[in-house]
Amino acid sequence: MAYHIAVTDDDAAIRKILQIILRKEGFEVSVCDSGNSLLDLLSLNAEDIDCIVLDIKMPGISGLELLGVLKSKYPYLPVIMLTAFTDLDTGMKAIRKGAEDYLSKPVRRSELVSRVNDVIKKSKVKFAESEKQQNNSQQQKILEEQLDEAHHTIMRTTMATIRAFSETIEQKDPYTKGHCNRVCELALLLGKEIHLSESDLTILEGGCLLHDIGKIGISENILNKPGKLTHSEYSIIKTHPETGEKILKHIDMFTPYIPIVRNHHERYDGMGYPDGLAGDRIPLLVRIVTLADAFDAMTSDRAYRKSLDLDTALLEIVQNKNKQFDPELVEVFINSKFYEK
Ligand SMILES: [Fe+2]
Repeated sequence: MAYHIAVTDDDAAIRKILQIILRKEGFEVSVCDSGNSLLDLLSLNAEDIDCIVLDIKMPGISGLELLGVLKSKYPYLPVIMLTAFTDLDTGMKAIRKGAEDYLSKPVRRSELVSRVNDVIKKSKVKFAESEKQQNNSQQQKILEEQLDEAHHTIMRTTMATIRAFSETIEQKDPYTKGHCNRVCELALLLGKEIHLSESDLTILEGGCLLHDIGKIGISENILNKPGKLTHSEYSIIKTHPETGEKILKHIDMFTPYIPIVRNHHERYDGMGYPDGLAGDRIPLLVRIVTLADAFDAMTSDRAYRKSLDLDTALLEIVQNKNKQFDPELVEVFINSKFYEK
């Protein structure tokens, strides 16, 4: 199919010469006698035009002014400017303003044909590359959306699995019914109060629900024993953080929650178990769970004792600042009055 050239010049003789030359070379040619007439043609037919040959000096809207309009409305339509033989500066100015090329009048036949062919070829390549880039960006966007969706699906599955695990522990130990959920709510309130990131809050939530998962491995007789535990029974209870870690470590999706599961019975003074970590060596998320876990344990009935009243539990928390609990978290906890919510 022949390429379509729009020749725009106010000089009828030049329009005619260019039309004859280009038609002879097999191009389809439309002629316009002014900038406005070119804009009219393009508004009806821009897709069919492959190249514009445009005189710089015309009455009314000048070629250079028109060039700015063309480049913003039709960025992939190549423009060759026609300049006076003595006016190379204007030609260079046109190139800087976005023209693909310029020709000095009088235009030589071979030069016109080769320049027109050249700019059309280059603009087609440029257009194809831009289309390709646009397709790549669209493809990239689709992939990112699919990845995002997959991530959400994985997170939904992970949380559903964690909740199922959490309910398994509560089934085994009726006294802890609702404990994991309450610890979770309290820990999340604390976490939000200290402006944890969304991803940390997600880990905190899962960690709270899973923190006692290791109790699955402990006999119900010990878990639900109404009286005081013997030394050896207490030693068995103390194995649940490590048992929890052993259960979870085989499944990659549980990896982020393992520190909470393993270390939620550490104490700020280093006297906890299983690792005897102290102070900031206990990860922040773990310190939050320890506080929420202890507060809920104190304020709930257990097999071996009745719940403490709120004031006694709060006093216990405050008295254990720097001993069992992170002092800054205790401050946040007391000042924010989460326990009243
Ligand atoms: Fe525990």
